[in-house]
Amino acid sequence: MKTHETYSIPQELLQKFRSPEFPGSFLLSFEGIEGSGKSTQLARLKNALEHLNYRAIVLREPGSTSFGEKLREAILQSKDDLNPLTEVLLFASSRSQLLTDVTLKELNVPNTVVIYDRYIDSSLAYQGYARKLGIKEVLEIHGLFPLTLVPHLTLYLRISAETSQKRQKIRNAPKDYFESKGMEFYQRLVEGYDLAETLFPQRIIKLDGEKNEDQVAFDVMNHVTKLLTQKQTLSNGNHPHFDS
Ligand SMILES: Nc1ncnc2c1ncn2[C@@H]1O[C@H](COP(=O)(O)OP(=O)(O)O)[C@@H](O)[C@H]1O
Ligand SMILES: [Mg+2]
Repeated sequence: MKTHETYSIPQELLQKFRSPEFPGSFLLSFEGIEGSGKSTQLARLKNALEHLNYRAIVLREPGSTSFGEKLREAILQSKDDLNPLTEVLLFASSRSQLLTDVTLKELNVPNTVVIYDRYIDSSLAYQGYARKLGIKEVLEIHGLFPLTLVPHLTLYLRISAETSQKRQKIRNAPKDYFESKGMEFYQRLVEGYDLAETLFPQRIIKLDGEKNEDQVAFDVMNHVTKLLTQKQTLSNGNHPHFDS
């Protein structure tokens, strides 16, 4: 197995990734393996933000545009074993389109919070790490604007592969392309997400997704409130240690 050493990423590459600058508006993402509580917490956060008079817009990828929904179907229902490069390019193309079609336009309206159900860290964990394309390679694929835009804050709900399996059994959902890959794959995904958190420690907040729903919601709100009450959001405000 590759060690963290293998993934020492050039600062020059990491520095390309910046949060968008729109006064009073924010970009957030939820990350975590299947069953980590993303959809649950996303709905609760949207509700909480609306009570605070924010426009809260939830996006999923691929999806959220008609092109994206078609791509989503093509990937998630694929019977072919897509190679990880194909996968990451498909996700990146849908991501790029969603950014220009929806995200950037919405963020231009003051008082907006755009919340992604999965974003670039899913590509890092799934294709970059679990499927071994390489973290650096996935970042390089995202090296052109608008793919260099990253959230102000990413809420990574961390659960174990075992908890994921238990929650999926309870949910009893049919397995899709990614969910049918088994336990070892889930363990690698958790490692991949943990690695992403070490590369972007200011942006990615790792939360204990094993806690009960209310406790997780409290932790989420705690971090989101902190971000929203910052007077100014600078594009590099979340990466102070990358400045020099
Ligand atoms: N903190 C939690 N503790 C226990 N079960 C949870 C928690 N959060 C969500 N669940 C349950 O786990 C399942 C998966 O949650 P979901 O929000 O759909 O996860 P995801 O969107 O990350 O796949 C659902 O049945 C949900 O009710
Ligand atoms: Mg979900």
